[in-house]
Amino acid sequence: MAKSSPVFTCQTCGAVHRKWAGRCDACGAWNSIIEETPLSSGPKALGSKGRTIALTDLATEEAPPPRTSSGMDELDRVLGGGLVPASAILVGGDPGIGKSTLLLQAAASFAASGVKCLYISGEEAAAQVRMRAQRLGLGQAPVALGAETNLRDILTTLDAERPALAIIDSIQTMWLDTVDSAPGSVAQVRASAHELVTFAKRRGVAIVIVGHVTKEGQIAGPRVVEHMVDTVLYFEGERGHQFRILRAVKNRFGPADEIGVFEMTGGGLAQVANPSALFLSDRDQPAPGSAVFAGIEGTRPVLTEIQALVSPSPLGTPRRTVVGLDSGRLSTILAVLEARCGIPFAGLDVFLNVAGGMRVSEPAADLAVAAALVSAREDVAIPPDMVLFGEISLSGALRPVTQTESRLKEASKLGFSQAVAPTRSKLGQDEGMRVRQMPDLAAFVGEMFGAG
Ligand code: TYD
Ligand code: MG
Repeated sequence: MAKSSPVFTCQTCGAVHRKWAGRCDACGAWNSIIEETPLSSGPKALGSKGRTIALTDLATEEAPPPRTSSGMDELDRVLGGGLVPASAILVGGDPGIGKSTLLLQAAASFAASGVKCLYISGEEAAAQVRMRAQRLGLGQAPVALGAETNLRDILTTLDAERPALAIIDSIQTMWLDTVDSAPGSVAQVRASAHELVTFAKRRGVAIVIVGHVTKEGQIAGPRVVEHMVDTVLYFEGERGHQFRILRAVKNRFGPADEIGVFEMTGGGLAQVANPSALFLSDRDQPAPGSAVFAGIEGTRPVLTEIQALVSPSPLGTPRRTVVGLDSGRLSTILAVLEARCGIPFAGLDVFLNVAGGMRVSEPAADLAVAAALVSAREDVAIPPDMVLFGEISLSGALRPVTQTESRLKEASKLGFSQAVAPTRSKLGQDEGMRVRQMPDLAAFVGEMFGAG
């Protein structure tokens, strides 16, 4: 076989270059291009060799996929109601966030309900995994354990064992002898994931692939694995916080954006059935700069506390520090406050934080962010029994958001008795609380703080 010419692939974005360069033209990353041998050159000539494939129609009734419950409600919810047979699931996250712990617990839980489970660790020796299992009190769970990185051997074993679920921890340690680059490189990760996904579909084995996230926040450089699998879950959390959030970012068998909340304890991960109570638990006295946002994560309402601190800046360019929110969103809200409400933040350092290590990405959080900022700046506390939500447009108007009713219901359940929402919000019959509807930010700031 003629040796195919080498290609140079960017490990960050996957762009293919003809020759090596220090910087990738496609994504701008430095020192990310390495030489790789292409997998195959593809079919040489089309024609007589191909078979015609059988075609069907769309009308045939298909039963919904049978799902297996993991026995962990938080995990089931994120999977869209349980594990779908023959599906491929990618679990991504920072190193050390708890992926192996979560999946070991999940494997034990599946195994306990009679699902045949195989856990293949490429990172830890079998003894290490066993030790961890014993520490988690899972020593007796009937999970078959393997420590291997050679994918050919792993697939041979899977084929012989035919488990219902196989966990591969992690894809970055796996290698195929047909691909001649190092484990963890794009070529290896792509080829290994492809083999695993194909195997899952052909043999009816559900496969969970663990992937470490690079510091740019992508799994193994490019998102090559993400589009091969059926479901992509991210396990995230702030360092120094014990909360961990499992977030579905893609799911062919269920809603995306669904979250499962866990708490890292000495005895492994514990499920958190009521995250709102947890995220709000350490709120004590009413304090300036704190506002409670009634948010929606997937299908579930979650209340979080937005905290702001505003102080005179010694710097020429004041600091804008954000944790758990988009920093671009903060700049926009600061600009709207200044332009539409006459509240300047020039010369002031602004720190913004979502309590408990939660990440909020909904635009509905705008109003709570603005309220926290003005409250911190004016040194006036927001009533502790108030929740806020609403999207702020550049004109300063408040836009109604989805699922107003479930936001209010959750807040009322947790003992909140008043809410601020945009006008024209779709209210139900009885919210169990006083809801004030505001047309725009200036009206809200005027009424709340007497400013603007
Ligand atoms: P791990 O599952 O090994 O992370 P990953 O596979 O994502 O790299 O989790 C390691 C961290 O979890 C480690 O810092 C210690 C912590 N941990 C606990 O706090 N309690 C426990 O019971 C276990 C098993 C781990
Ligand atoms: Mg691990």
